[in-house]
Amino acid sequence: MSDERAASAADDAAGIEAPHDFDFRGLDVPNLVGSAAAAGKAAKQPKPAKPAKTKTAKAKDGKGKASKKGKGGATAAGAGTTFPSGGHGPMLFRPMTLRGLTIRNRIWMPPMDTYSAFAQDGRPTPFHYQHYVSRAMGGFGMIIAEATAVAPEGRISPNDVGLWADWQIDSWRWIVEGIKEAGAVAAIQLNHAGRKGSTGSFAVGHEHETVPGEEGGWQTVAPSAIPFGDYDTPRALSVDEIHGLVGAFAAAAGRAVAAGFQAIEIHAAHGYLISQFLDPLSNEREDEYGNGFEGRIRFLLEVADAIRAVIPEDMPLLVRVSATDWAAGGWDLDQTVALSKILKAHGVDLVDVSTGGIIAGVTVPVKPEYQVPFSAQVRTRASVPVTAVGLITKPKQAEKVLAKGKADAVEIGRAALRDPYWPLRAASKLGVPSDEAPYRPQYVRGAY
Ligand SMILES: Cc1cc2nc3c(=O)[nH]c(=O)nc-3n(C[C@H](O)[C@H](O)[C@H](O)COP(=O)(O)O)c2cc1C
Repeated sequence: MSDERAASAADDAAGIEAPHDFDFRGLDVPNLVGSAAAAGKAAKQPKPAKPAKTKTAKAKDGKGKASKKGKGGATAAGAGTTFPSGGHGPMLFRPMTLRGLTIRNRIWMPPMDTYSAFAQDGRPTPFHYQHYVSRAMGGFGMIIAEATAVAPEGRISPNDVGLWADWQIDSWRWIVEGIKEAGAVAAIQLNHAGRKGSTGSFAVGHEHETVPGEEGGWQTVAPSAIPFGDYDTPRALSVDEIHGLVGAFAAAAGRAVAAGFQAIEIHAAHGYLISQFLDPLSNEREDEYGNGFEGRIRFLLEVADAIRAVIPEDMPLLVRVSATDWAAGGWDLDQTVALSKILKAHGVDLVDVSTGGIIAGVTVPVKPEYQVPFSAQVRTRASVPVTAVGLITKPKQAEKVLAKGKADAVEIGRAALRDPYWPLRAASKLGVPSDEAPYRPQYVRGAY
């Protein structure tokens, strides 16, 4: 009898419930060097899904077995992950409440596409589980899962994740439960890539160009038939199709709720479909979805309304915007402020302020904190909670952004790719005692 079968027989004898099938889907895609070997190795290991499943059944809303030992205070944290909810200590580690959701701190992981739905079916893989749950264990307050397509043609690349079908929901559940069990809030960014869809990635090649149809690419769509840089020319959407896409965003939001996500972010930045509608340089429509500011923002407002209508009343809705396209005559800060005020009235709780990505070939003055002035302006002028993002890499720098009132939370992107434990390191640097930092109990003995 093999070791595995012997273990299984022993489990049966002990009356232990059989673990659910662990799906290594996609990890044996032949053009991914080394991944087939990884799949083979992983398949021999004890099934990792079982502990996550059994624990999280008890750990809904972060109130699992582990949290009983916690100090109380912040509501979203598990054991060893709470920080007293009063106004003490660095601002980075103060909880924040949006509607019915309390987030244990103000260090969030922004959405970052990993192009790792290897089977090209939009379903996340074990890579995503490790990627997100390790950052949740690293102490991030909110994890915003990467751009997730609301339709197959809405993917940025063939390997983007999606929530365009009910059968994709289950693949997200264990990731969401893993994030929550580690004390973080699980949010998801919903996206349609529009004219910036069907592009390549490390996994399929064709980086920064359109993937041809015979290699899994597709005809892209947009408000107007204007290409982005050298990408293929998109087809202009009909009004009926736009209405259909509003429904697709709402349906995907409903699926995100079913998967257990606690907050939704609409991707209206970086030149993807919604931001293509916003910007006069990519939207030349003369119907009700273009032709002036009111028309250009209509698609986003309809998406926000449709999502608000299907998600729970106490669930936060976030919108990520590019506050400027960095191009003359295009989308700018004043329009972003005006839009943010309107979004508030449409039930949006926070604006995630980024910039750029809409117009090819523009010069972006990239330097530390280069986008922070935009979040500060949106926060003050539109009186809406905001996040700041973009080359915020150091704990003291991040703390200053909050202390100076330039944002309500900071997002740490690429720095989190190289250091999943960024918040724990920040806690140490800023003098937060280790028993008040968001350590998992298993890691307390290794505290800074
Ligand atoms: C690999 C990678 C993928 C990204 N994917 C997304 C995405 O899916 N959605 C999004 O809104 N921004 C995306 N971004 C932008 C980041 O969220 C963030 O705004 C940007 O990296 C700037 O922050 P940073 O300097 O802390 O990295 C991505 C960035 C990187 C590096």
